[in-house]
Amino acid sequence: MKSNENFKTIIEPFRIKMVEPINMTSEEERKIILKEAHYNLFLIKAENIIVDLLTDSGTGAMSAAQWGAMMEGDESYAGCTSYYDMKAVVQDLTNMKHIYPTHQGRAAERILFGCLGSEGKIIPNNTHFDTTRANIEFTKAKAIDLVIDEGKNAGSLFPFKGNMNINKLRALFEEHKGTDNIPLCMLTITNNSGGGQPVSMGNIRDTRALCKEFQIPLFLDACRFAENSYFIKKREEEFSNKTIKEIAQEIFSYCDGFTMSAKKDAIVNMGGLLCFNDDVLSVNVKNMLILTEGFSTYGGLSGRDMAALAQGLREVVEEDYLEYRIKSTAYLGDALTKAGIPMVLPIGGHAVYIDAAAMLPHIPALEYPAQSLACELFIKGGVRGVEIGSFMFGSLDENGVEIPNTMELLRLAIPRRVYTQSHIDYVIEVLKLVNKNKDKLKGMKITKQPSLLRHFSAELSPA
Ligand code: F0G
Repeated sequence: MKSNENFKTIIEPFRIKMVEPINMTSEEERKIILKEAHYNLFLIKAENIIVDLLTDSGTGAMSAAQWGAMMEGDESYAGCTSYYDMKAVVQDLTNMKHIYPTHQGRAAERILFGCLGSEGKIIPNNTHFDTTRANIEFTKAKAIDLVIDEGKNAGSLFPFKGNMNINKLRALFEEHKGTDNIPLCMLTITNNSGGGQPVSMGNIRDTRALCKEFQIPLFLDACRFAENSYFIKKREEEFSNKTIKEIAQEIFSYCDGFTMSAKKDAIVNMGGLLCFNDDVLSVNVKNMLILTEGFSTYGGLSGRDMAALAQGLREVVEEDYLEYRIKSTAYLGDALTKAGIPMVLPIGGHAVYIDAAAMLPHIPALEYPAQSLACELFIKGGVRGVEIGSFMFGSLDENGVEIPNTMELLRLAIPRRVYTQSHIDYVIEVLKLVNKNKDKLKGMKITKQPSLLRHFSAELSPA
């Protein structure tokens, strides 16, 4: 038994060697800052945020070993040592034949779908992340979400709410049998857009078997593969005695390729991967990579970036790290649930998702309740989350009338190894205060918006 197993406190399995000061602000100052940012939290300078839970992407703290590896990065244009070192680590974990670095996840998506997507093609997934969907639709192919019904029900306690609906996938495959309409099937682990929910090994095996039956390649969107592996270990009995690395290796053994934003579970601030086995695809991918990212042994990355990425992949499969990671996300989620704040349950791996529609029933969907909550959280405590609801995903029908999203969520994503338990205790305290006065919160209206991806730059005001 390890010495920390007798105690309830989640002890961070690291100590801090370098610090970054946080600029403390007052509520009065934050009211002005928010107004000047037109009530859009993407438009606030990071120096004015106290606890930044906007995303877990690229915001992690690298280890001393990663910084050390960076000093040894080989910056040769072609064939650099850092590429071959990284390739060895990725191949040990995933057994893929072709390993291509990219500057981040969406670059891997753009190249993959640029090679395989076109008008008339259909690409199913449990739930496409927004950049994945956008990159597919950019090629005029169709992106289809086929997550199980439990995955769309915020209150369902099903342990693997990221699972693919196998019956619906079979029906889709049957419908297009004998055509080449479906160039690949994807599976996102964990399912970010569905609340950071994991996919079970059983479901990965079933998806694999179905893809094999219809001869359709299976690709993973694998950016949170280690968190997904941890959930499999804890929730699927067959895996309770396996190491995280063994579980991850089994997951990757079922796919023909994967895209990965290394900004999540590879714990680097920038980087991505596109890996697969197909030799014919490799010729096209390599050409596209060289055209838009860089030579095939560096993609969009410096040698030092690949050195840090390789070390991050070694560290992320350590069980002490993952135990702390998943338990500390649950710590925040459980405390908020106990305080009566409605959440997407069970708590996922990288973030907690507050159900703002349930928390603020007096604010209609098209007055963006989760955005109103995000603004209040910033005013009261300088905490930044992100609205995932009608502000981010609302669309217009053919008459130009806005259609609300199915859910109104506020995501609080936890950067890796950045905040301590007292930062999280502070966030809990702020949210309890906001919850006490929630009936006074007012809706928002959009005063200015671009035609595409409006949440990044639109301006709002209180309704
Ligand atoms: N796939 C998933 C499941 C993601 O969560 C992300 C990014 C990407 C692909 C794209 O990767 O940002 O490196 O280009 N998610 C971030 C987030 C932005 O905040 O959830 P990228």
